[in-house]
Amino acid sequence: MNRGGLFHFSKRILRSSHLRRSWLRFSRFQSSARSKNKPPKKRRFWTKYRVIGSVIGGVYCGLLLFGVRNDIPLSRFLLVRPMMSLIDPETAHRWAVQLSSQSLTIRSLFGLVDKSAPVDILEVKLWGLTFDNPIGLAAGFDKHGEAIDGMLDMGFGFVEIGSITPEPQEGNPKPRLFRLMEDRAIINRYGFNSEGHDVVANRLQERENSLQRAIGVIGINLGKNKTSPSALEDYSKGIQKLGPFAHYLVINVSSPNTPGLRKLQGRDQLKKLLSELIVVRDEMHKEMQSKSPIKCASCILPKCPLLVKISPDLSQDDRIEIAEVLKEVKIDGIIISNTTISRPKSLKSSFKSEGGGLSGGPLAQMSTELIRDMYRLTNGEIPIIGVGGIKDGADAYEKITAGASLVQLYSSLVFYGPALVARIKRQLTDHVLADGFDNIREAIGADHRGAPGPENADG
Ligand SMILES: Cc1cc2nc3c(=O)[nH]c(=O)nc-3n(C[C@H](O)[C@H](O)[C@H](O)COP(=O)(O)O)c2cc1C
Repeated sequence: MNRGGLFHFSKRILRSSHLRRSWLRFSRFQSSARSKNKPPKKRRFWTKYRVIGSVIGGVYCGLLLFGVRNDIPLSRFLLVRPMMSLIDPETAHRWAVQLSSQSLTIRSLFGLVDKSAPVDILEVKLWGLTFDNPIGLAAGFDKHGEAIDGMLDMGFGFVEIGSITPEPQEGNPKPRLFRLMEDRAIINRYGFNSEGHDVVANRLQERENSLQRAIGVIGINLGKNKTSPSALEDYSKGIQKLGPFAHYLVINVSSPNTPGLRKLQGRDQLKKLLSELIVVRDEMHKEMQSKSPIKCASCILPKCPLLVKISPDLSQDDRIEIAEVLKEVKIDGIIISNTTISRPKSLKSSFKSEGGGLSGGPLAQMSTELIRDMYRLTNGEIPIIGVGGIKDGADAYEKITAGASLVQLYSSLVFYGPALVARIKRQLTDHVLADGFDNIREAIGADHRGAPGPENADG
């Protein structure tokens, strides 16, 4: 049989109905087996992209971690910012608190631990307390006292928790937190969302019992419940319940998000409120000293310092009256300032008209000028904690020379990340030395003594 004959023969066999049926059965079996083992074309496409996505995600996270740990500015713009815009601000806040409350090992992995040693130049002694450095965490980040050790380990010299209300309350409806990226600012109208005194007190007690807690100063900021008829009662409860855990206490009468709260800054109301709260504080302190001095954070001190936090939106008359009241009642300190309800014309963000308190960059000068004014009006006799828009060592130094003994920050952590704290400390040391001071204590209120320099500093 020649080649052509063989070809025609095979064709004829294949065409035979029996073989054709067998072939069809075989090919159907094959395709069903293939469809069982292999995903259909569309699914294969997505599987491929899922693998590529995971690789890109992994590389992104690796670079992000590397950038944050090593404080690489470019990573903030190229990696952190795009990620931030994807996450709702309140969720990001909750995650940040949760991460900061993890073990030291996990926090180190995420670059949240400042390993630099304290420097003597930055040490401040106030109210009988020693602050390793004058940079503190402002109220509002750790509202329920969950991440105290994490924030102290980040390099803060002191951490203020709260505001805490007597009874738990939800706060305002969401959304209530807005990032103004273009303005490096935040608007919040949380409205004192709080877990309440009991939950926070139990948490602080657990921390006291733990051997692994970080060393540092703890401030507790007290608020009032929205529906409570008596501010005096709410703040008194706060002093009694949380005072034993605090190195200092703050009466917050300046949050713009609780109706009527800022009216407590009026001359008569403030005088009555603070003089009664000072008595409550004295009684609490005396009782703790006699009952269980070991368990009381401030029992080594003559008294637990009581501070008042004021608003940046005060008129000149308000400032004069408040300064008089604070001198009269002998308050231990003033925190200047809370968020502002004003909206500077310079704001660019589309969120600028949201209701609530504005913080961050646009607040910086406003709060520094109020510090300067209140230092002058109180003759530098009442220690001031300066807060508002601090993003670098220069901002912190400006507030200190204007009259602040200590400073705090919150908003800029959101935009510049956790490495900011160590950076501010380095820059602050440079400013102190560049102005010829031996230490930061000499720089406090230096603007009021003429040109900066050790010859004009009176300590
Ligand atoms: C989201 C958020 C929540 C805040 N919550 C409180 C608070 O509960 N009690 C309080 O006294 N201040 C609160 N503040 C005000 C800050 O403590 C601080 O006074 C203000 O933000 C100015 O500092 P900054 O510009 O560094 O953020 C909050 C601020 C922000 C941004």
